[in-house]
Amino acid sequence: MALYSEKVMDHFRNPRNVGVIEDANGIGEVGNAKCGDIMKMYLKIEDDIIKDVKFETFGCGSAIASSSMATEMIKGQPVSEAMKLTNKAVAEALDGLPDYKMHCSVLAEEAIKNALDDYNSRKQ
Ligand code: FES
Repeated sequence: MALYSEKVMDHFRNPRNVGVIEDANGIGEVGNAKCGDIMKMYLKIEDDIIKDVKFETFGCGSAIASSSMATEMIKGQPVSEAMKLTNKAVAEALDGLPDYKMHCSVLAEEAIKNALDDYNSRKQ
């Protein structure tokens, strides 16, 4: 069996939603101290719906594929649904990640939660 699924390779080679949203109203940045990888998420939210999402990932292929898939999963979703996104769901949507690469999908979950927290704190 190949180490990485076709979906992982596809999202690594052609990542969706890469970039920056200049007028984002939710930004989250996380890193993994062990591997040194960094992920930044930008959200544009209107009426509690995620209208647009972009990311910048300085990291491994699994982190790039996870960010790409995670952005696809939350785009168009209400904030309350995006809050429920788990790294396990992202890994499953990618048809799995090797065990020692699961932490890469955790970065995607954390970056999105961070960006949503930022959005919520700006609202107050
Ligand atoms: Fe660091 Fe994948 S090895 S996020």
